[in-house]
Amino acid sequence: MAEFQLPEHSRIRGGKTFAAPESAGNTKTFVIYRWSPDDEANPSVDRYEVDLDSCGPMVLDAIIKIKNEIDPTLTFRRSCREGICGSCAMNIDGVNTLACTMPIEDISGDVKIYPLPHLPVVKDLVPDMTHFYAQYASIQPWLRTQSTAPPDRERLQSHEDREQLDGLYECILCACCSTSCPSYWWNGDRYLGPAILLQAYRWLADSRDEATGERLDDLEDPFKLYRCHTIMNCTRTCPKGLNPAKAIAEIKKMLMARSGV
Ligand code: SF4
Ligand code: SF4
Ligand code: FES
Repeated sequence: MAEFQLPEHSRIRGGKTFAAPESAGNTKTFVIYRWSPDDEANPSVDRYEVDLDSCGPMVLDAIIKIKNEIDPTLTFRRSCREGICGSCAMNIDGVNTLACTMPIEDISGDVKIYPLPHLPVVKDLVPDMTHFYAQYASIQPWLRTQSTAPPDRERLQSHEDREQLDGLYECILCACCSTSCPSYWWNGDRYLGPAILLQAYRWLADSRDEATGERLDDLEDPFKLYRCHTIMNCTRTCPKGLNPAKAIAEIKKMLMARSGV
């Protein structure tokens, strides 16, 4: 039988344990992935016992408490703390989600926290999003027009046309969906992945945009779009309750409609 092993430097070692003070009465253990580019050490997982009686309710509250009070070297991203910026996306208890909207009490046992899967790690819980953002830029995520708008007013939309953007404009580009997609794991160099394709559909669905043909030409590609095999991990994991798989299906329908299929 074939046996696969991670390269020596990728193997995760046991890490340090930071015990809670004896006075703490209500503790929970957070098991967190650690890796630093500053030394030659393998990745490890450190264990932090956190007193929940002096901690906010969300996983991000615990991570911030660990950094402030226990281990200032722990590295992660966060900004808004209310599910709007997308920067605290990570893998918590086996699910890609936002640390700031994930209640600690919803997790039984130890809370296991890793960076988003299948992205290079910059440090600890910080993934390298460079390629993801380059893919986002590649779909030209802005209103593209040829016609001249009246200089004294915006480009208007009916209420019905505006509603076509519901379920799309709410995307915060956290990448939870793309990094849960097996097709993106294996072909992320060329497959755009669910987040970027949902964004691509957001502009295709906008009644004010005048570049529909060019946008579809650009997406009609065996790798950029057609690596989606409707596995639905993306939709299951989206912390904003969006449906990237449906957006991808809508793009495919638009392509079929214009080819007369
Ligand atoms: S579709 Fe959902 S999971 Fe994907 S990037 Fe947007 S908000 Fe995040
Ligand atoms: S539906 Fe498509 S984009 Fe979503 S997880 Fe499956 S293959 Fe990936
Ligand atoms: S900190 Fe902004 S989404 Fe979590």
